[in-house]
Amino acid sequence: MKIGFINLHKFTKSNLVKATAATVLCSLLMILACLIKYYIIGKPVSSGIWFCMLTLTIATFVFMGGLLMYAMVSRNYIIAHTRYFVAFLSVVAITFIAHLYLSIISPLLIAPALTALVIIQLSRRKQDAFIFNLMEAMMVLLVLLLEAIMTDGEVYMLLGGGRNAYLWYLGAMSVINVGAGAVVPVMLRDKAKRINYLIVGGIVMVASVAVYALIILVHANKLFLLQYFWLLFVSSVITVVLSLIISPVMESAFNLVTESRLAEWTNSSQPLLRKLALEAPGTYNHSLTVANFAEMCASAIGEDPYLARAAAYYHDVGKLANPSFFAENQSGYNPHDEILPEVSAEIIRNHTTDGYKLLKAYRLPEEIARVAIEHQGTLPITVFYERAKQLTDSEVNVDDYRYHGETPTTKIAGIIMICDSSEAAIRAMDKPDGERVDKLLRSIINDRITKGQFDKCKLSLHDLDIIRKTIINAFGGVFHQRVKYPEGKV
Ligand SMILES: [Fe+2]
Ligand SMILES: [Fe+2]
Repeated sequence: MKIGFINLHKFTKSNLVKATAATVLCSLLMILACLIKYYIIGKPVSSGIWFCMLTLTIATFVFMGGLLMYAMVSRNYIIAHTRYFVAFLSVVAITFIAHLYLSIISPLLIAPALTALVIIQLSRRKQDAFIFNLMEAMMVLLVLLLEAIMTDGEVYMLLGGGRNAYLWYLGAMSVINVGAGAVVPVMLRDKAKRINYLIVGGIVMVASVAVYALIILVHANKLFLLQYFWLLFVSSVITVVLSLIISPVMESAFNLVTESRLAEWTNSSQPLLRKLALEAPGTYNHSLTVANFAEMCASAIGEDPYLARAAAYYHDVGKLANPSFFAENQSGYNPHDEILPEVSAEIIRNHTTDGYKLLKAYRLPEEIARVAIEHQGTLPITVFYERAKQLTDSEVNVDDYRYHGETPTTKIAGIIMICDSSEAAIRAMDKPDGERVDKLLRSIINDRITKGQFDKCKLSLHDLDIIRKTIINAFGGVFHQRVKYPEGKV
């Protein structure tokens, strides 16, 4: 169903209920934080308190509701994967509360682009960082203005510059906050490198100083504004420090897939990868090759290459339950020769569900765990189905030999399904060449299309064509032939 710009079929009713509940909860939390702050600072409040509190309550719900609308209209992904939306809203609530309480130290201490710098680490889209930062900046500006009204200008007196200078300063800080929030996501290129946040913090500081200097130039009360110059340095440091603390906490609390976490998950020192390398070395090497193919294919069709690489690393971890039952880990002895084909099929197909459970136990995110359960789709395990037919005269039901997982629901799971079968089939070839590999890939892809394996994952025929060509271009570098050494010489 579509209402205006909103595609309701992109997320479920339950997603929307959770996102709305999070919006209301965060709004209430922010209003409560304001009330506690007013209680703590104990400033005398004027008769305008009810007007201010009502304005604050309505404005908080309007701004936070605006973020919900933004996500519903142009960021269906973060509503469908609600934990992202809840994480982003929580960031807004945390940074807002941080600004609120920092202002007790100095009513004008606003850390520029703090929200943007946290959200850019959690989101794939630059626009999220800008929009969430903009809303948070607006709320901080409104609350500080309301605070000034409620305390009958107490803050103006506190600063000693009078109402006009206070408004100029507040305006300048808000412009810097919003402006830096727009620039930071564009400047930050490699998000996995933490050092880049320090560089960006430095640039924000220089930009803040430049904007502030311009305001001083045009403002009459130069001395007043000049005495708060140092706050720009402090607030830029606060931005970097707080963003480096809040982001990893949010990534972990909401189990988000971010560039820095993908870099961690693909590090060979990860416990699950080390276990795979030690206990199932054949599977480990197979996974590395699938990852190389999958990364290139994902990049070629505009999907996330880092997510494809990480998902490929972990797609077969379920084989850890019985490593020796998988061909790539055998050296001569094959335990399947001694058991019935239906038992063999059961052991083989369990690697998808076992993998999913193992990845969940190791707290890997759903996006990666789903690939473990989907990469074999619902295909039959032909070798044991054929063996079963040979052993009996009666009818053998092919469904008893199928994988029990699901067909790929994402393009990345579809890519890994193709790369997985291609890697195994090319490896089994004697002297693979471009023409034979092309023929093989066409038959693998056509077979999966006719068996409905790509029906849920939106891989188009054009995507499948690009994936096939990418693997053909890449296989030579992976399965290259070596010059044979003369016997007895190395
Ligand atoms: Fe597999
Ligand atoms: Fe595999």
